[in-house]
Amino acid sequence: MYPLRRNRRLRANESIRNLVRETVLTPNDFLVPLFVVEGKNIKEEIPSMPNYYRLSLDNLALEAKELWKMGLKSVLLFVKVDDDLKDNKGTEALNPDGLMQRAIRTVKYACPDMLVMTDVALDPFSSYGHDGIIENGQVLNDETSEVLAEMSVSHAEAGADVVAPSDMMDGRILTIREALEDEGYYNTAIMSYSAKYASAFYGPFRDALDSAPVDVKDIPKDKKTYQMDYANRYEAIKETEMDIDEGADIVMVKPGLCYLDIVREIRNDVDIPVAVYQVSGEYAMLKAAAEKGWLDHDAVMLEQLYAIKRAGANIIATYFAKDAVKLLG
Ligand code: PBG
Repeated sequence: MYPLRRNRRLRANESIRNLVRETVLTPNDFLVPLFVVEGKNIKEEIPSMPNYYRLSLDNLALEAKELWKMGLKSVLLFVKVDDDLKDNKGTEALNPDGLMQRAIRTVKYACPDMLVMTDVALDPFSSYGHDGIIENGQVLNDETSEVLAEMSVSHAEAGADVVAPSDMMDGRILTIREALEDEGYYNTAIMSYSAKYASAFYGPFRDALDSAPVDVKDIPKDKKTYQMDYANRYEAIKETEMDIDEGADIVMVKPGLCYLDIVREIRNDVDIPVAVYQVSGEYAMLKAAAEKGWLDHDAVMLEQLYAIKRAGANIIATYFAKDAVKLLG
């Protein structure tokens, strides 16, 4: 005679919807990626990432303070390095006074309690735009891991709280963990990009850092020999479990939206925090559609962020962090 259950009762008004809401977003959910450049008083917009900027160290300090005031208490640092400092081995990455090391100290000085995470990978420092050392057209695995371990120690020395290897070499988490322990940095955590796919969504990021693989004979044109094939699911679980066995404190799935099935699967499988990186191409897509008036920017942004959290993310790295926090009030 009448419906067995009327689910619409719990949707009848905003108060009851808020009462039964299953997923909540707060500023603590977000990790803010920041792009750093040499120079003074620089705040240059990244063309393919509207309203997102490369910052010189003075502006990085101001940005950190602003984020802190908004309740955003974790940052993930990336640096754009001058071409003449790049080589095959990413030597500049180990410079104790390199841009990354100064950026870490800058944020810690401006905001001592800000959690500072650092990108650990060779690509911004590589003359070939790859995450590893290249020999005979191949990306070398173990030699690259050794450099990543030295880089991690250098970041820890400069004050990084968490190092975040984003390269996908085999065995690098163990190599990094051992190096950190050997040097006494047993409290420095590792957030591993464990299930990182070879994705076309990274384009705007590579513009931001000028880090795209070069188009030169005998140099791999893409990152498919180390980043994962997007057709694969079980492999993501294997990668993640191995990184945890090797000592990862936090694991990550990347990109975000297209990979939420992987996020849920991994969240169900592991007992450590799972981070999701909503990447540059995801940001650019929404900005472009909103600019054309085809999508409601704020509504779609929140829907996406809630979806990522609902899928199981404990940490969301996103270029929308400030916009989202302003809206969440
Ligand atoms: C580099 C790195 C990339 C991103 C984070 N770290 C690009 C890549 O692997 O080519 C992408 C982030 C984004 O697109 O927002 N190791």
